[in-house]
Amino acid sequence: MKPQTTLVHAGDRRRLGSYIPVSTPIFSSSSFFYESIGELADVFAERQPGQTYARMGNPTSEGLEDLTKALEGGSCAFATASGMGAVHLALMAGLLDRRPAIVAADVLYGGTLELLRSVMPRTGIEVRFCDFCDLEGVQRAADEVGPSVLLVETLSNPCLRVADLDKIRDIATAHNALMLVDNTFTPLLIRPFDHGADMVIHSATKYLAGHGDVLAGVVVAQEEHREALRHSQRCLGGNIGPFEAFLVMRGMKTLALRMRQHCSNARKVFEALRDHPAVERLIYPGDPAHPDAATVAALMPAGQAGGAVGIDVKGGIPGAYRFVDKLRLVKTSASIGDMTTLALHPSTATHRMLSQEERDAIGVTDGLVRLSVGGEHIDDILADLRQALETQ
Ligand SMILES: Cc1ncc(COP(=O)(O)O)c(C=O)c1O
Repeated sequence: MKPQTTLVHAGDRRRLGSYIPVSTPIFSSSSFFYESIGELADVFAERQPGQTYARMGNPTSEGLEDLTKALEGGSCAFATASGMGAVHLALMAGLLDRRPAIVAADVLYGGTLELLRSVMPRTGIEVRFCDFCDLEGVQRAADEVGPSVLLVETLSNPCLRVADLDKIRDIATAHNALMLVDNTFTPLLIRPFDHGADMVIHSATKYLAGHGDVLAGVVVAQEEHREALRHSQRCLGGNIGPFEAFLVMRGMKTLALRMRQHCSNARKVFEALRDHPAVERLIYPGDPAHPDAATVAALMPAGQAGGAVGIDVKGGIPGAYRFVDKLRLVKTSASIGDMTTLALHPSTATHRMLSQEERDAIGVTDGLVRLSVGGEHIDDILADLRQALETQ
């Protein structure tokens, strides 16, 4: 079945009495009962399928888990209350019974960086950051640290670098480490399991849900990680709620249509603004001159390089602020993946906790504005961007 069809049909369509609902209902019950205590005991002991208590499982979130499993081609999935909940769950499950050491990409979503910089190390977990596009550097870091987990994002946020997942897999294998891949920016475009990922993470808040109306996450994994994830999920308790699971499922029915439009619009933004006099640098993974162009060509479908574009506006922070404040159709927002085109200034928002030197080292410049290109008509998006750049 083609992915577009899977996304419309996969998920929970359980028989309720004599009928089967076409759309997964919201099961807002926190616990479930049976005609006899013996039956409940059988369900608890997994001698019989069923539900007991919503933190252990809920039919709506299980529907979403089936759907995301089908999307990524994994064996199991665990839906969480946010993308950060998914990052946390994956890391905790990945470290169970293993050396508490992580090698992570130095360019990641700000919240993930914060978790790895200011929470994990204070619990005794060693974290080493390095540039995942410099494979020798990753090899060196892995040799020195002996990690249990390597963590990377498919399109790094916000600089849109693309690491060679197959080569990272080789390094992980040589160290008996797991490869965890955050695929939030590239659902349908990159399939990390095809490149040896052990777990795939999504902030479902973004493209999966797609409408800017829900906070959610999911970890999809290979079979051998099922028990570690299931046990950790039940103990950590960061489960998704049924209403949120419903919204993500509803959004995902149109994921394939939306991704096509995001990709096409982002490409047109790149083509229209690449030589604009107010733009210092345009970052777009589909740019033939992008530093990772060869990896992009190997990992992503031709002509579909995601919906994100980085516009490095001339004039540093004042220049970036003038540009963003002039935008009318495009909204200033910390999110991505909505139908609405969104703009963010990472150096004073998601990446403000880094020092100037750290930001310079990873390319988060003062003038950089991250654009999540939405699903509006391209003429309207371009008209807004052009009028805002005119005053530069
Ligand atoms: C790549 C990536 N991973 C994880 C997260 C965290 O997701 P959430 O905000 O849903 O917790 C984000 C949020 O922007 C993200 O961009």
